[in-house]
Amino acid sequence: MTTATNSIYMVTMSAPTNIAVIKYWGKADTHYNTPINSSLSVTLDQTELRAITTIAVSKQFTKDRFWLNGVEEDELLHSPRFRACIEGVQKLAQDHYDAQGNLIYSKEDWKHLHLHISSYNTFPTAAGLASSAAGYAALVAALCQLYHAVETFPGEFSTIARQGSGSACRSMYGGIVAWRQGTPKQEWRDSKAEPVLEDWPQLRALLLVVSDSKKDTSSTTGMQTSVQTSMLLQYRAQHIVPARLQAMEQACHARDFGTFAQLTMQDSNQFHATCLDTYPPIFYMNDISRQIVRIVTVYNSWAGELRAAYTFDAGPNAVIYCLEQHQQHLAALLCHYFPIPKGALSGLDTSSMALEESLLQACNETGRIPRMGDVQTMYATKPGPGPLVVTDVCNLDPETGLNC
Ligand code: DP6
Repeated sequence: MTTATNSIYMVTMSAPTNIAVIKYWGKADTHYNTPINSSLSVTLDQTELRAITTIAVSKQFTKDRFWLNGVEEDELLHSPRFRACIEGVQKLAQDHYDAQGNLIYSKEDWKHLHLHISSYNTFPTAAGLASSAAGYAALVAALCQLYHAVETFPGEFSTIARQGSGSACRSMYGGIVAWRQGTPKQEWRDSKAEPVLEDWPQLRALLLVVSDSKKDTSSTTGMQTSVQTSMLLQYRAQHIVPARLQAMEQACHARDFGTFAQLTMQDSNQFHATCLDTYPPIFYMNDISRQIVRIVTVYNSWAGELRAAYTFDAGPNAVIYCLEQHQQHLAALLCHYFPIPKGALSGLDTSSMALEESLLQACNETGRIPRMGDVQTMYATKPGPGPLVVTDVCNLDPETGLNC
């Protein structure tokens, strides 16, 4: 051990959620946590939705400890996924010097030092809002910062986040991000995230929280059952996703929202079709989700073009992509049919937005009757950057290293 004192050294990082438009569903290798198809997602702005993780290291700590949303989680801390992230980053660690240039910890020291980790999500955990993606991305980003880790090839940090949760690899970058499936050679090191488009300035998203309770079937369990029982899933991975992904990347580069919207909705539909094709079947969408689909569909027909694109992950919550010029109108329409308590729409004001009679008439034909409470919260958001250093928040007490 070098000249380290008993003082606590800590860092805090935040990481975003991401919502896939070409879905990852099914593992090729459960040990390395690699997918049966490549996928593509939009990293969302961190203003409202993010995971914030503080990690501290000190010679005075006697064991590793981990708090998630204030609750100590020993089982998760010792899970193979969590350990894979810690050990993966430790392998890339470098020496740590203080401000005067004194060596405090050499890279060999790190693995003998215990960690205290505290992570908070600013949104419901495990409700299909990609909380594990943000959480594992924040964990890996904070470890990289703490250990001054250096990649040996581009995207290596994302291969570590992938071992925490597959979708987390895409949260390691901002904008529009692909997760390339990769190959088994060299321990799947090419199964990694790759930025596709840094920004699409007009792209927007509305997140409709239909339920913030924990989902019935976790993604990990659900996709294992789908791989074992759904022939549709195999067909999708081999024959549909490759061409669809290519078309989607082209649409993103061309900022062609119509094609982006069509492919997004088709892919969400197909993902949920593979869930139904699973035995026993998995139901992530519910009646409210389906009513949202109907309203979006009518909105697009009324507009005479694809202005809104719904997508659903492993839960009933909807994410609706649109362009900036339609976001307020679309939000007003959704707030009309799925009224939310005052103040539950963050990021947008719809009060001045009038809705056309012809649009309301068309939507009424779906049979949807506005009912308060079906949607609990709505977030108006847009694409954003990858993990960020946080200087104004710290989840651990700097004196004791305990959760605060
Ligand atoms: C439906 O990344 O949560 O959101 O790798 O087992 O942790 P694990 O799964 P996870 O699955 C996400 C599935 C999805 C689609 C997607 O994000 O691509």
